[in-house]
Amino acid sequence: YDYDLLVVGSANADLVIGVERRPAAGETVLGSDLAVHPGGKGANQAVAAARLGARTALLARVGDDAHGRLLLDSQRAAGVDTAGVLTGGAPTGVALITVDPSGDNSIVVSPGANGRLTPADVRAASGLLHASRVVSAQLEIPLETVVAVAAGLGPDSRFVLNPSPPRPLPAVLLAACDPLIVNEHEAKVLLGEAGGAASGPEDWARLLLAKGPRSVVVTLGAEGALVASADGGVQHVDSVKVDAVDTTGAGDSFTAALAWRLGTGASLAEAAAYAARVGAVSVTRRGAQESFPTAEEVDALGGAGRRADDA
Ligand code: RIB
Ligand code: NA
Repeated sequence: YDYDLLVVGSANADLVIGVERRPAAGETVLGSDLAVHPGGKGANQAVAAARLGARTALLARVGDDAHGRLLLDSQRAAGVDTAGVLTGGAPTGVALITVDPSGDNSIVVSPGANGRLTPADVRAASGLLHASRVVSAQLEIPLETVVAVAAGLGPDSRFVLNPSPPRPLPAVLLAACDPLIVNEHEAKVLLGEAGGAASGPEDWARLLLAKGPRSVVVTLGAEGALVASADGGVQHVDSVKVDAVDTTGAGDSFTAALAWRLGTGASLAEAAAYAARVGAVSVTRRGAQESFPTAEEVDALGGAGRRADDA
């Protein structure tokens, strides 16, 4: 394979304002100075993997504008192959983000060019898909485009999906996921009524697995993650305790790290333990892409979940 990981997904300019608290409907609050960061769940994943040392490519669409150039620059600086990044059709996607004092965020995304990444674009990039050991996607691009990715994988390539923002998924897409990676909110949306009846994350993991994916990961923030598969049952994986300043993109770095480690032969639990450490470092720094660690920084964190090949 030419690439350890191909990320197919969104690239957004993140317009970030720190707030004491989020405004209610009809309310105005004053916030911090505006910060503009390269973001988007797809672009974030690609940078996260490349910074860890994965040979990474991105298939995405940006506008022919300053935000698009910001995103391309940040991909290239991280060492991501951007030959698959298409330009034009609409302005670059934008995310309006507020971050509160606890580091939690709220995000509204205007998809822009991300919404114009089509199944035909994916089919035209078939060579890239076949050259990639692992392919990962999220849902800030059209659902039919993600379905085309799952349908266009190489015969032995592995598909990883973070269905964010969440919506009901077709069975054919669920069946391709190995794993499907969800947080609590995404699990509940995917499970609908059944999610309400479930008593907690272990139930969500089991119920999601029953929907057809080959494996499932439920991320639990500071509590780590649950990994679930038909042969391995449900296992808990710890995280590392850190002081969070900004959780934006932490889930993206988790998914990217997990996808990369799986491709190197790590088990699901090993890959998730490593990914939890990557996410932990990312929340200690502001922004999304700028906060993602190198492999050396992850190893320096100490504790459980070091890469098996470092032991
Ligand atoms: O997951 C974090 C990302 O979500 C941000 O970078 C923002 O662009 C939105 O896509
Ligand atoms: Na961060």
